Amino acid sequence: MITAADIQPEFESLLERKAFEKIRSEAFDYIARGAGSEATMQENLLAFSKWKIRPRVLRNVAEIDMSSTLFDQKLSMPVLFAPIGVQRIAHPEGELASARAAKELNVPLVVSSAASYSMEDIANELGGCSRWFQLYCSSEEIVTRSLVQRAEANGYSAIVITVDTPVLGIRESDARNQYSPLEEGDGCGNYLNDPAFLSLLDLSPEEDMKAALQKQIDIIDQPGLDWDELKKIRELTSLPILLKGVLHPEDAKLALENNVDGIIVSNHGGRQLDHCIASLDALPDIKNIVQDRIPILLDSGIRSGVDVFKALALGADAVLLGRPLVYGLAINGEVGVMQVVHKILHELEITMALAGVRSIKEINSDLLFKG
Ligand code: FNR
Repeated sequence: MITAADIQPEFESLLERKAFEKIRSEAFDYIARGAGSEATMQENLLAFSKWKIRPRVLRNVAEIDMSSTLFDQKLSMPVLFAPIGVQRIAHPEGELASARAAKELNVPLVVSSAASYSMEDIANELGGCSRWFQLYCSSEEIVTRSLVQRAEANGYSAIVITVDTPVLGIRESDARNQYSPLEEGDGCGNYLNDPAFLSLLDLSPEEDMKAALQKQIDIIDQPGLDWDELKKIRELTSLPILLKGVLHPEDAKLALENNVDGIIVSNHGGRQLDHCIASLDALPDIKNIVQDRIPILLDSGIRSGVDVFKALALGADAVLLGRPLVYGLAINGEVGVMQVVHKILHELEITMALAGVRSIKEINSDLLFKG
């Protein structure tokens, strides 16, 4: 019989291998693995390697400015922390440690609906650092409303609605491991103290934790979500709303028609629809539709500063870092996260200098060659 131990994991990087040594194996698989055959997960990385940089020379790159602006807010670099739930499976301090790193780096943090800690506790760690809230729309409208209201009350300045998860993708390693961090209670920081959520339970979570966790799993799934439902959420808040998980240019068009404020081109790191288009490959057609009308962000496959450069050159205003942050977190908590981000920023700065650009605005597709 073949057991999990016989299947040698393939590591995408040294960082991933080091994280593997720190995390319980089922949790590592949950983080590192993707949906189905992992074709999309691999495609996300390949898409970046298809583009080469065509540098300019003699451009006086003595001063490199990596700052940029998003929703009238100045960022010291065009990078955010992606919403990643259940971070306690990587490190006991989970999102609290990530928040301290984000604050130290002054990088906006997108807090997941499925965070291990509550958005209030994470906001406390962040102090004045910019934060957005990622919403898994709930099949229970009162819960969606309550989450949005709490985000507003705690200084979150944008709502990111994830739209590529009407149902959960097929994650074969989790099925094999019989592992679900939600069922183990690692992604319930935002629910177990939410008055609207608690009102749906027959017993308090202390009395029946299993039922509470199951209820949370049930209401996170929302296969009925559509553009009409989105209109209702639009009415709940005046905060900017971004849609995360847009890959088709027609959906970008609909997002504009529905007064969405920003788009995140993403395939959830290849964790949802296998064999779907790589994020980077989806970006140019979406940029073509959106032009500069609303910000376009991208995630799924960003592993280095060179990747950030390529995404910006193809039309992204900023990128979100995903798995590499979790690996940094697993390896050395808040310091590990900071080291990962510092490395990526250093690579971006050197790439800009060697490509002959001095500011983020100067990065454009003329500097890329596909081949
Ligand atoms: C995620 N992602 C995610 N996205 C989201 O909208 N809400 C969430 O709660 C989570 N949770 C989550 C957990 C883990 C362990 C991972 C790895 C990812 C997806 C995330 O925001 C982002 O889209 C991907 O991580 C980007 O892909 P890469 O760059 O990590 O490969």
